[in-house]
Amino acid sequence: MDPRSEVILRHPEAFTMPLLIAGLASDDLLSHLPHAQAWCWNAADYAELEQRYASRVSFSTQAPEQHFAVGVLFLPKSKELTEYLLQALAAKVEQLYLVGEKRAGVERAAKQLAAYGKAYKLDSARHCQLWRCDIKAKAAPPDLLALAKHIELTVNEQPLVVKTLPGVFSHGRLDQGTALLLAHLEHLPQGKMLDFGCGAGVIGAVLAKTYPDSEVTLLDVDAFALASAQLTLAANQLSAHVIAGSGIGDAPIGLSAIVSNPPFHQGVHTSYAATEQMLKQAEKHLQKNGQLRIVANSFLKYPPIIEQHLSACTTLAQERGFSIYNAEKAR
Ligand SMILES: C[S@@+](CC[C@H](N)C(=O)[O-])C[C@H]1O[C@@H](n2cnc3c(N)ncnc32)[C@H](O)[C@@H]1O
Repeated sequence: MDPRSEVILRHPEAFTMPLLIAGLASDDLLSHLPHAQAWCWNAADYAELEQRYASRVSFSTQAPEQHFAVGVLFLPKSKELTEYLLQALAAKVEQLYLVGEKRAGVERAAKQLAAYGKAYKLDSARHCQLWRCDIKAKAAPPDLLALAKHIELTVNEQPLVVKTLPGVFSHGRLDQGTALLLAHLEHLPQGKMLDFGCGAGVIGAVLAKTYPDSEVTLLDVDAFALASAQLTLAANQLSAHVIAGSGIGDAPIGLSAIVSNPPFHQGVHTSYAATEQMLKQAEKHLQKNGQLRIVANSFLKYPPIIEQHLSACTTLAQERGFSIYNAEKAR
């Protein structure tokens, strides 16, 4: 069980009332808390929880409609997302708990919690802390769209607007790796293109703009990323499919191109698992002569994986510690 869930379960007396748990891990916690509903924005956690606790789990950027006496927030990575989620929960509940790992900055986040009432540390165990706050006065629910940051770029001499919501990769700025990839999107085979791990949708939007005869799909695990990608497409009058998925397995097949600045995090921790899986399975999702084109930190050992599972890997560019890799499905 996730250590944060273990800390919660050290206090069963606090969680007997109707309860909303936000951002939880996909473990057994809900089995121990029969009055709890779960709010997820990670499609992988949602898929696992939904299978076991069907009617008790939602996947959204917005809190469920109902009222709850108690809310629990599993601390996310981003400070801005924490702010949004605390406000959304404080508008719904009377008591708000925050649980997180010490190394993820739970002590710092407890200061954000204190804006909603007197906050105190209830427990510290398993390298985590559990904080409680009695809500002083019900806050108004936050307006997520008002929190979107607006970036204006010029890509291939064309204007592009990018909208990013709290918690989304590279919120409010263009990542250097992404920028390098945007400069190397030429000569991709047309057809069905995928932006894997689309974040705010900048790569997918440029694909849709550059290859208007292609059908572009943007896939991400995170509901806030998907909402940002929708905003980015709309801001540029572009149309594309935006889908939630927990990995490459949820992507379409018969793709002419998979383009990505692939993930290197899962929640608050560094993880290359989803990217390695994507590189290993790209072949299954590409059509003959389809291409895989990614940007990655040059120190990451992706080329051997690409060569083992797809074909020869070409380095199209190398700049400031990033590499652009390309490989083609020969058969
Ligand atoms: C490095 S960011 C790139 C975002 C965007 N493409 C850009 O260039 O700004 C990787 C993205 O992959 C997403 N991601 C993480 N794990 C994933 C998974 N298992 N399946 C799909 N997307 C995932 C993250 O939510 C994040 O938006």
